[in-house]
Amino acid sequence: MEIIKSIKDFKKVRKDLKEVGFVPTMGALHKGHLSLIERSVKENEHTVVSIFVNPTQFLPGEDLDKYPRKLEADKKICELAGVDYLFFPTKDDIYFEDEVLVKAPKQSGYILEGHFRPGHFDGVVQIVNKLFHIVNPTRAYFGKKDAQQLFLINKMVKNFFWDVEIVPCDIVRDGDGLALSSRNVYLSPEARQRALLISKSLKRAAKLVQSGVLDTKTVKEEMLTILKPLDVEYVEIVDREFKLTDNIILGNTIILVAAYVDGTRLIDNIWL
Ligand code: PAJ
Repeated sequence: MEIIKSIKDFKKVRKDLKEVGFVPTMGALHKGHLSLIERSVKENEHTVVSIFVNPTQFLPGEDLDKYPRKLEADKKICELAGVDYLFFPTKDDIYFEDEVLVKAPKQSGYILEGHFRPGHFDGVVQIVNKLFHIVNPTRAYFGKKDAQQLFLINKMVKNFFWDVEIVPCDIVRDGDGLALSSRNVYLSPEARQRALLISKSLKRAAKLVQSGVLDTKTVKEEMLTILKPLDVEYVEIVDREFKLTDNIILGNTIILVAAYVDGTRLIDNIWL
């Protein structure tokens, strides 16, 4: 595995590569990231993983400074997984003063996550667009865990005529159901136990839908009852175009939760 910091060096290397699978990350890699990486390694001649804790997608007061950084462990994980190039650019190389901006769409980029974290997706599309320009991937791998991010990246690819195949990857969970996240390290054992209510509420929703309950009001109410001990930010039900729906249609529904557990913000969802 080659570790590359400079954008210029990476572009030089890229010239000689044909098929490239790309996994953009912010590091502190866990089995969720690993599932994307392994899939890319399997499906592409070469795999590039980027690690960049992107400051523009954090809002003032969020956890940018304390976001876990584990470069040595990340290197090992990538090496063992068969990654060819680990790209970790610096903030100063990536961003310019008074630069041209790519922005998230005004509607779908400012609901749900975008409503509670206004501007977050501006930072996400800004960085992913830059990384795509540098890496020029054949395929890029994104987790369904960040469902709205995945939706917006697909939109960006369409709107900017990117010739990149976006590969959605299933959510990886711990044995107890908690969706893996770099932020789970913030949870005390007790908080982690309470955090399980999130996946529990989603499982309950899936059960209800399976049993024929298709109105969103009933499903949301049941979920909110389960989630009561948490500081819930939203429970919403959307279709695959991220439009709020009253009726659940199997094959076209995503149920999303965002909640704080002892000050740690967690998100999770289920695709039905
Ligand atoms: P990060 O949170 O590091 O996640 C990198 C990728 O891993 C994302 O596509 C995310 O959806 C996926 N992922 C995280 N947890 C997962 C899980 N439990 N199961 C499956 N996939 C999971 O998302 C970002 O970084 C950034 O916003 C980024 C796209 C890199 C832009 O800065």
